[in-house]
Amino acid sequence: MYFGTDYYPEHWVYPYAGTPEEPESRWQRDAELMVAAGINVVRMGEFAWGLYEPEEGKYDFDWMKRAMDVMANTGIQVMLGTPTAAPPIWLAKKHPEILPLDDHGLPKHEGTRKAYCMNSSVYWDYCKKIITELARTLGKHPQLIAWQIENGLGGHNTESSFNEETRRDWHSWLKAKYETIERLNELMGTRFWTQTVTRFEDVPMPMTAPTVFNPALVLDWMRFSSDTIVAFVKMQADLLHELTPGIPVTNNLRALTRCFDHFDVADALDFVGVDSNATIKSKSSENACGIDMLRSLKKSNINTPGGDSGFWVVEQKSGNVNWQEVNSLVRPGVVRLFTYQCISRGATGVLYFLWRQARIGSEKFYGGVLTHDGRGENRVYREISHIGDEIKLLAPALRGTRVVAETCILFSHENEWAMQHGPQPNRYFNQREHIQLFYNALHDRNIPVDFARPTEDLSKYKMVIAPSLKLLAGGEADLLKLYVQNGGTLVGTFNTGLVDEHHIAPDNGYPHDLTDLFGMEVLEFDPLPPGEENHLTFKGAFPTSHLHPAKLWCDLIEPKECQILATYAKDFYTGRPAMTMNTFGLGKAIYIGTMSHQHFYYDLIVWLRQLCNLYPLLKVPDTVEVSLREKEDTKIYFLLNHQNSPVRIQFYKPMHDFLTGSTLQGNHDLPPHGVLVLDEQVVPKAEPEPAA
Ligand code: GLA
Repeated sequence: MYFGTDYYPEHWVYPYAGTPEEPESRWQRDAELMVAAGINVVRMGEFAWGLYEPEEGKYDFDWMKRAMDVMANTGIQVMLGTPTAAPPIWLAKKHPEILPLDDHGLPKHEGTRKAYCMNSSVYWDYCKKIITELARTLGKHPQLIAWQIENGLGGHNTESSFNEETRRDWHSWLKAKYETIERLNELMGTRFWTQTVTRFEDVPMPMTAPTVFNPALVLDWMRFSSDTIVAFVKMQADLLHELTPGIPVTNNLRALTRCFDHFDVADALDFVGVDSNATIKSKSSENACGIDMLRSLKKSNINTPGGDSGFWVVEQKSGNVNWQEVNSLVRPGVVRLFTYQCISRGATGVLYFLWRQARIGSEKFYGGVLTHDGRGENRVYREISHIGDEIKLLAPALRGTRVVAETCILFSHENEWAMQHGPQPNRYFNQREHIQLFYNALHDRNIPVDFARPTEDLSKYKMVIAPSLKLLAGGEADLLKLYVQNGGTLVGTFNTGLVDEHHIAPDNGYPHDLTDLFGMEVLEFDPLPPGEENHLTFKGAFPTSHLHPAKLWCDLIEPKECQILATYAKDFYTGRPAMTMNTFGLGKAIYIGTMSHQHFYYDLIVWLRQLCNLYPLLKVPDTVEVSLREKEDTKIYFLLNHQNSPVRIQFYKPMHDFLTGSTLQGNHDLPPHGVLVLDEQVVPKAEPEPAA
């Protein structure tokens, strides 16, 4: 396990720390405090370009080498950032064309981070130069174990820019995709409002305009902008692989919140690195969902420092953030709880953002491991040190273990873009909320979940949930059919198969290419405003703990071969099917034509669990989150109490508590925000010594 922190040595020189005679003398004290807290890795330098190259071509990496040497003295290893998220001011002054233009064609100015257009070849050249110098100078430093490429990809709404160079790249991208202008006109549907073009060079970028662009054009724009980001990451990854072979590269991704394809970015990386913003206000299952999404970005070809599997949390917030309306303190025990939440879901490295609250800049009141005083006597430092002690205990047992899920939720960025841009049948429908309803039900019943793109191999999953795949490519539909044909259970929903990959609506019924799989056809759909509800009437063995409403969207289903599980209870479609099940090949395809409240999804999971032989990891009270990491004959359970009050857990068989070494059996009270790490290998009590 790697346990670390994000360290900015450049913040801790005279006059902010140190002395005029020894401006960097604080660094040694920092390293000592880190070691005492169990820290074995630091991430440094992701914004350091302006110090590495204060003037064009004049490089100074010595200060960072000295910082790395200080780390070496205490055995701490180093992840270095490429500094391309914060270009120096001289670069923008010399080449103002690198500044990104917004959708009004206005520049976003220099003087902060992220002020560059990722299509700028000038910017690419400067990035390559600084990365090459950096890798040549520090790439062989014995402490270096990983690179972080860039920082905060797409952050501050920088996924797209509208520069002239972007326009040229956009046109080349379209040419590569469509080959002929006739094909582009046909597949993009430019006859609508007769926006046909005769040359690729005339295809607009979706800049500010009187009304909406053709959603097919916007979808391509999103794909193009994503491909631009992926190419930028790949350029850096390729360069680093060439210059420092064997040193893996990562990035700090957020839980699929930015407008680029996170799966594609992960493909370009050796391992996934993530930012975790967990605070006391976040719901545990929302955090868990984010972590599972991020873990799922890379399921194979993982190459972490040290060779373990999993992912790293390269920024685990160690305290309050600074971007909320009110940035309350994170309560005692909560950082520990969220650290274990990440570890329990597969993290093999956790680094806290940030080591010490900065005295300068816009993030000076962000929570840190150390407070401004740097003394190491503060509450959070003590908490982190306590976690550090525990990690030392746990690391050997965790090595090689990973999360294994038999259930999967499908997620595709293209699909989400199709639901975010352009007019929608129901603006109040939110795909993430829809996913979260399914996820919460699985999470609260302690059933592990992966996320996957519809194009992945799904055969290892007993159950696949596919919430609202509005955009469904023909090839994706075929793969879903294959999965069910071979014995899988697929759960599909309303708002599926309404357009193909070209954003063209089908003429063979909804959900397109899947009507045979579900054994029915959706003839019409009735979006409902918030607050208006229909109701579901169930048939057969579906367990109903509550009356279940139908909200936001009601599909009007024409059943063919399928079995009807529930019908609507009112309006002109009273008695028409709302939920169906069809046997297809060796498997089953379930269709839910509406959205309901959380209780419905709890009942659904109870029913599906039996149908698919899925078992909860452990039987514990609902408020306790359980996760499992496993390898061959080892199963390590994590139990997390997200409540402010103690929870009583009953252990029917003895469990070994890793953190205390004791054996738990019978009743155990897990304190507020408490954590248990357990396995079933109970250490036999030592026989009393025979009397002499
Ligand atoms: C991201 C960045 C950090 C920091 C935090 C603040 O995680 O990577 O540099 O700015 O945001 O929220």
